Amino acid sequence: MHLPHITPQRLPSVLRRMPKAELHIHIEGSLEPELIFQLAERNGVKLPYESVEALRAAYAFTDLQSFLDIYYAGASVLLKEEDFFDMAWAYLQKAAAENVVHTEIFFDPQTHTARGVPMGTVIQGLHHACQRAHQEFGISAKLILCFLRHLSEEDAFATLEAALPYRHHFIGVGLDSSELGHPPEKFARVFARSRELGLHVVAHAGEEGPPAYVWSALDVLQVERIDHGVQAIHDPALMQRLAQERVPLTVCPLSNVKLCVFPTLAQHNLKQLLDAGLCVTVNSDDPAYFGGYLNDNFVQLFEALELGPREAYQLAFNSFEASFADAATKRSWEHQLKTFFEDLREHD
Ligand code: ADE
Ligand code: ZN
Repeated sequence: MHLPHITPQRLPSVLRRMPKAELHIHIEGSLEPELIFQLAERNGVKLPYESVEALRAAYAFTDLQSFLDIYYAGASVLLKEEDFFDMAWAYLQKAAAENVVHTEIFFDPQTHTARGVPMGTVIQGLHHACQRAHQEFGISAKLILCFLRHLSEEDAFATLEAALPYRHHFIGVGLDSSELGHPPEKFARVFARSRELGLHVVAHAGEEGPPAYVWSALDVLQVERIDHGVQAIHDPALMQRLAQERVPLTVCPLSNVKLCVFPTLAQHNLKQLLDAGLCVTVNSDDPAYFGGYLNDNFVQLFEALELGPREAYQLAFNSFEASFADAATKRSWEHQLKTFFEDLREHD
């Protein structure tokens, strides 16, 4: 499609207003320090930080593990169904205001069940927030259950089993947490079982880990999308495979800089991945920890890489293509996106 010229000054507003999907957001990573302290007080949980400011000051990460240690500590305030509801509701309000029309939300049940929180409390709290956001804002919100890869496959199996009574409340499974030393093939059997159950399958791979982890996520776990995947750039054969099969990569620019995967946004490889024909999408990962929600990721990335309307349209289009919505729904979002850009042209 023919795209209008948009001045750099006008681009941020276009990025913020365009319809888009978010496919890589950990709901526990949307817990803002203020809400962490509110919930700690409500539940009588003692935090190892004195204040919101002290907690925020600890957000200086050197790698993925240094972040995960603080992220799991923050999640310790979640105990009741209403806590899970409040967390997801806060995110969904922001997402709707950012013109996110569809979101596929990761949650980490093992972080909560290990503390004695029942699986039903977690899933029902999150599900009710998704339901209400759909009713009130028209946003479509689905859940993806993630297995923690630093734990055993046996633990992942027990988690899947415990979640099965709520099977109708989540659309897929994923794999997250500490990547190095925990290759995808460690979870071959639980992913095979998840596929048999008709669940969608995705996995974090190639965030800090090598291209070999992306290969094994594809070949052993048979995932439909790769979360992050930015290390694939170091393997030309892998790049060719990802491009040929249009396996989506859910890339998280601000996260990658905060966790020192790239020194600066200007050095991020998203443009190279796009230019190689990969189905790249932009996502926020853990927005409360990484300094921005989805639109901040778009605006800062576009400024740093000097991207324009062509990339904006492509990235939003990819977000719908890569989603797990049905074909007719995808077409209607793609039509909405096209109309949005056509209307811009008229007002030029
Ligand atoms: N859990 C939350 N955020 C994560 C990330 N960026 N990588 C792996 N696991 C995560
Ligand atoms: Zn992630």
